[in-house]
Amino acid sequence: MHILVTAGPTREPIDPVRFLTNRSSGKMGYELAAAFAHAGHTVLLVSGPTALDVPDRVDFLPVETAAEMHAAVANHLERMDIAVFAAAVADYTPSTVAPEKVKKSADTLTLELVKTPDILGSARTPFGFAGTLVGFAAETENLEANAREKLTRKRCDLIVANDVSKPGIGFDSDQNEILLVYPDHSEALPQASKHDLAHQLVQAILELYTAQKK
Ligand code: PMT
Repeated sequence: MHILVTAGPTREPIDPVRFLTNRSSGKMGYELAAAFAHAGHTVLLVSGPTALDVPDRVDFLPVETAAEMHAAVANHLERMDIAVFAAAVADYTPSTVAPEKVKKSADTLTLELVKTPDILGSARTPFGFAGTLVGFAAETENLEANAREKLTRKRCDLIVANDVSKPGIGFDSDQNEILLVYPDHSEALPQASKHDLAHQLVQAILELYTAQKK
């Protein structure tokens, strides 16, 4: 099968030397891409900048900004059977990019930010994706309720929710603890390495795909 995975952070430029970003290392998404490839699938990994090596037998499409990730997903989603959105996409980007390095002058500096495109939220409409759609939810409170709201609003088949306020898991850690939020039930996967969780997740996602095809 053909699988698309998004991973890593995006970088939203302020000027030629500065950008806004977040703490995503890409580890969760890269482990997922590797686990799908290990299971024999054709994987396209669309990733923001990370320090990680591209997993073996995975096609790689590097991007920087949310707008670039949006365009990359728009170009490739149609031929995918399953899409998993593990990237930590910036929700806002500077409204303008200064052509030269912003000089230090006034005591305060105000940046105007505008919303980025919601890539996962565009998958069904306007991209027209009819395959199995899996999103992530990075939450610091009300994990299940917030994830369930994203499941409905973004028209996903599954949301993988993680509590990014818990020490030792989530952003940049080698470990995670996740809650699988389906339309009719939820299932907790206890703390484990992202490597092991990725293999459990791939199994769950493939079961979901098979159930939908029946
Ligand atoms: O990369 P690691 O260091 O291994 O950390 C893993 C992780 C914590 C980044 C990962 O497990 C995770 O939770 N990824 C999603 C992070 C996130 O942006 O969550 P969100 O709740 O803000 O977004 C919800 C969903 O919408 C996500 O699938 C996200 O990819 C997607 N999204 C969000 C905004 C946007 N503009 N476009 C999107 O597609």
